[in-house]
Amino acid sequence: MPRRRTPRPPSDDELLERLRGHLRFLGLTLTLAELEERLAWATRERPGTTALLEHILGIEAAHKLETRVERRIRTSGLIESKTLEGFDWDFQPGLDKDLILELARLDFVQRREDLVITGDSGTGKSHILKALGLRACRLGVRMRYARCVDLLDDLHAGLADGTYARRLKAWARPELLIIDDVGLGQVKKQGDEPTAAHTLYNLVDRRHGRVSTAITSNILLSEWGSYLGDATLTAAILDRLAMHALRIDIDGPSYRQKVAEDRAAERKTRRRRSRAKKS
Ligand SMILES: Nc1ncnc2c1ncn2[C@@H]1O[C@H](COP(=O)(O)OP(=O)(O)OP(=O)(O)O)[C@@H](O)[C@H]1O
Ligand SMILES: [Mg+2]
Repeated sequence: MPRRRTPRPPSDDELLERLRGHLRFLGLTLTLAELEERLAWATRERPGTTALLEHILGIEAAHKLETRVERRIRTSGLIESKTLEGFDWDFQPGLDKDLILELARLDFVQRREDLVITGDSGTGKSHILKALGLRACRLGVRMRYARCVDLLDDLHAGLADGTYARRLKAWARPELLIIDDVGLGQVKKQGDEPTAAHTLYNLVDRRHGRVSTAITSNILLSEWGSYLGDATLTAAILDRLAMHALRIDIDGPSYRQKVAEDRAAERKTRRRRSRAKKS
């Protein structure tokens, strides 16, 4: 009777090639790129099977999460990375820090509430909402950020090329939409285009009660009508926001002003020192 040949065990090189194939197929790109490093770690540390798998998959999972967060931030429209850690609370003592930290937990987004922050220029309204937006991206909340004028420009561009409905739907979708700086910049109006109030009303009405909208404004709510171009529709917007919105008014000094004053004081000190050196 012929003897059955036992199959030859795969060589280390063959195993490595197969392992690379599995990693490629599974999309574990970081482990694939750093495979030698992981294997050297395993040889050096000699972990148990569970610890080995946890170590390798843990690094890959953390990398995938970070990539996802970065993509979320990139596509959200946020261009500045503001944080609450970088906020000087002492400079704005009138602002309720606990309330802002509570908002940063984003429970209001889960409750589908809106948020309106008003106050003079430079008081930190945009800083706070940008920081909340960044947190939302990190927590996996679908968020989009836009300055009011840019959002309106985008929607009005849709009227010209027939994509208005699609654009409106896209702006209506995110779980959190930040509309920054209502009152800043010229709201354009051409020919028989609908007013900014009409466009914003359509959007707020679609979102209201379904998903959260957070807005900052440095003009009084009573001035929105003339800014947006239609008092009746603006009243309808404010009525919707007033029903569910958390309202914060920052009554305090401008941080921009403080930065400008600090710079002027530094320049003065430098000039004084250089004059003292020369004499
Ligand atoms: N308390 C603060 N601590 C640290 N930085 C601040 C603070 N307040 C504002 N800033 C910074 O000052 C600048 C202006 O603030 P921000 O854009 O938030 O003002 P704003 O209230 O939105 O003003 P505007 O109404 O003109 O849009 C930003 O660079 C912001 O990061
Ligand atoms: Mg602002």
